[in-house]
Amino acid sequence: MLHSRLFLLIACSAVLLTCAVWGRVLRVSYIGCFVDKSDRDLNGLAGITAIGAESVHKEKTTNSDMTIEFCSDFCSVGGFNYFGLQGQKQCFCGWSYGRHGKSNETDCNRPCLGNSSQMCGGNWRNSVFSLTYPKMSCFKQSKMPNLTVSSTLPTYWSLAAQTALDCLILCEASAYCQAVIFSGQQRLCHLLRFAYPPASLSSTDGDYFVRG
Ligand SMILES: *[C@@H]1O[C@H](CO)[C@@H](O)[C@H](O)[C@H]1NC(C)=O
Ligand SMILES: *[C@@H]1O[C@H](CO)[C@@H](O)[C@H](O)[C@H]1NC(C)=O
Ligand SMILES: *[C@@H]1O[C@H](CO)[C@@H](O)[C@H](O)[C@H]1NC(C)=O
Repeated sequence: MLHSRLFLLIACSAVLLTCAVWGRVLRVSYIGCFVDKSDRDLNGLAGITAIGAESVHKEKTTNSDMTIEFCSDFCSVGGFNYFGLQGQKQCFCGWSYGRHGKSNETDCNRPCLGNSSQMCGGNWRNSVFSLTYPKMSCFKQSKMPNLTVSSTLPTYWSLAAQTALDCLILCEASAYCQAVIFSGQQRLCHLLRFAYPPASLSSTDGDYFVRG
């Protein structure tokens, strides 16, 4: 079992170009129109204040060019399974949906500001979509991004690892891991919840790999 995983990880690194071109999301599917409340249905961004270039406020990012593709790309940075669009320009990410019940489809009637052919929810209504990722990940080594994640809660955890490959295997085993920083000197694997380093680790001396 361990050997087949190792083989796949290594095989995968030979097709990194494919990963980079296709991005991580395999499929985006519309689920339906769902009720939202101030206790947000899709609350995966709780505690986050910025991801890369996007600021996050009260569990959502808001953009006057909002589209389904924008929100899908944004939520895939955290590996989320679901995203919701609301009120023409708001994007929420989450690991579950539907806590406040389903709504009538006609309630999701607000066109997206970035593409009027798409619906971006309604008044306290989310257009909810699912995101599907490949079963096996690819990992791409790259320069540490200069953009970071800012959060009031921790967005990484650290485990002992002897080699970079051990670190990638740890990441592969968790749906919550989107990238790693492996410090060979400390024999430490930092597993990151988002495909950007936390601000507190951005100057760590280590090898950065992002899940593809
Ligand atoms: C759906 O529409 C019906 C009829 O207009 C209404 O009674 C019901 O409350 C609506 N459901 C929701 C969740 O808004
Ligand atoms: C706008 O959305 C429609 C429906 O999803 C899509 O077919 C079209 O390509 C989009 N337009 C642009 C400019 O992305
Ligand atoms: C971050 O990196 C990008 C390209 O990798 C570069 O264009 C940009 O100027 C950099 N920003 C800062 C603040 O260093």
